[in-house]
Amino acid sequence: MTHVFVPRDAAALALGADAVAAALAGHATVVRTGSRGLFWLEPMVEVETPEGRIAYGPVAARDVAGLLASGLLDGAAHPLRLGKPEALPFLAQQTRFTFARCGIVDPLSMDDFRAHGGLQGLRRALELGPARIVEEVTKSGLRGRGGAGFPTGIKWKTTAAAAGARKYIVCNADEGDSGTYADRMMMEGDPFTLIEGMAIAGIAVGATKGFVYTRSEYPHAVATFDAALAIARREGLLGERVLGSGAAFDIEQRVGGGAYVCGEETSLLESLEGKRGQVRAKPPLPAHQGLFRMPTVVNNLITLASVPFVLAEGAEAYQAIGFGRSRGTMPIQLAGNVRCAGLFEAGFGLTLGELVNDIGGGTRSGRPVRAVQVGGPLGAYFPPALFDTKFDYEAFAARDGLIGHGGVVVFDDTVDLARQARFAMEFCAAESCGKCTPCRIGSVRGMEIIDRIMAGDRVDANLELLRDLCHTMKFGSLCALGGFIPYPVMSALTHFPEDFRALQKVAAE
Ligand SMILES: Cc1cc2nc3c(=O)[nH]c(=O)nc-3n(C[C@H](O)[C@H](O)[C@H](O)COP(=O)(O)O)c2cc1C
Ligand code: SF4
Repeated sequence: MTHVFVPRDAAALALGADAVAAALAGHATVVRTGSRGLFWLEPMVEVETPEGRIAYGPVAARDVAGLLASGLLDGAAHPLRLGKPEALPFLAQQTRFTFARCGIVDPLSMDDFRAHGGLQGLRRALELGPARIVEEVTKSGLRGRGGAGFPTGIKWKTTAAAAGARKYIVCNADEGDSGTYADRMMMEGDPFTLIEGMAIAGIAVGATKGFVYTRSEYPHAVATFDAALAIARREGLLGERVLGSGAAFDIEQRVGGGAYVCGEETSLLESLEGKRGQVRAKPPLPAHQGLFRMPTVVNNLITLASVPFVLAEGAEAYQAIGFGRSRGTMPIQLAGNVRCAGLFEAGFGLTLGELVNDIGGGTRSGRPVRAVQVGGPLGAYFPPALFDTKFDYEAFAARDGLIGHGGVVVFDDTVDLARQARFAMEFCAAESCGKCTPCRIGSVRGMEIIDRIMAGDRVDANLELLRDLCHTMKFGSLCALGGFIPYPVMSALTHFPEDFRALQKVAAE
């Protein structure tokens, strides 16, 4: 029977992919894949033909009978026919290093994984040995994709050199940033790549145990990843002798309780140890004293999943693309009020305008773009006047913003930035771990001040107080939750000052 590919990614499931698969069953061999990341076309169904795969989308279960009658299984014409997926502009413009297999392979087939280049990075890592793996990762220029952009090679070198009876690899899959889903897509679409990356990290630093800390809101990712772990053990990718070598490595998955702050690495470690997720003061760094006070690498999922490519293709191939000190690719996640929402993996250096207007196609509502929040709830709001900012850690920092985990959330001209600033303080108050005063108390005071401003009450004096509070939070908070909340607040104030004076204007009129 002809092979038909239907995603099992949570985004596609939410849009009815299971019903589409059920309608196709019996007519074709249905293979469930991850998503290619073109969410506005989900469920996107692909058919194996002599010329390669042909895509159709968005397909609803009620379309299936008509599609079959039109010759779907031969890749025939139909209003939903999209053609070859790799020729779709959204995919053709990407550089897929990390997500090369996602949406193509059956995520739980080790044969498929191997047939599409899986395990080559791990094999090379085993040949190179620990010191040269670290050297290769350092040379690649790979920086942490969790937000801070810290060089991965340096983190691994520090952990490798640290003394400890045991060492750990901890994968941060808490993915709390608004508008982000790259970690989830990888766990659901290509989980063996993460397992391979973690095994390479383990060999590099001398760790035999890894943990993946997954957010509780990802039930499909949790189930797929647990199934992948069982297969990886059976196939010798994990266990006492990784791929028949002398190296041992195994992984356990743990599901978080749903706190944003548990994505902060030390809070995550507390949570993994079974304690309340509260931030630890640094030093000691997790690389020296992390999980159970042992040397620990804490890396974002995408950081770890980028490593197999680096090892398989070589550091030069990875660092050859990018911009400035941001090397390699970033899976950028377009979300919010955007026409073409989805995952766009590309070398650093695209401008924000290119991402939002050319690739994202502007707003879904058709109204003008007014603001874009990049980098999750701690990221700044940028107006179109800053759309020439390049997607790069340093370029965003130079404009008081951050790229975080690569989330780009688009807003049209109906957004009220004073309300968004209030929301930032409200979010901080709800998610604060409570350990330090500027964040615990400051966020509540921040909400109250913005409420007064929005009510038109002594606006100038309260704006001054808000700026002062932001300064205190930025420089006095223990971690980046309280420390970075001033970014969305101050960017709203700087770039959209009129929203904070709406009532004042009404009063004057
Ligand atoms: C409040 C807060 C939330 C965070 N949430 C996440 C998260 O969900 N995922 C993540 O990878 N890093 C998150 N981080 C960053 C981590 O503390 C840490 O820098 C990261 O996991 C290190 O991995 P990397 O070097 O690969 O980026 C968060 C940081 C803060 C302050
Ligand atoms: S800034 Fe907030 S989240 Fe971070 S340690 Fe202080 S109270 Fe906890």
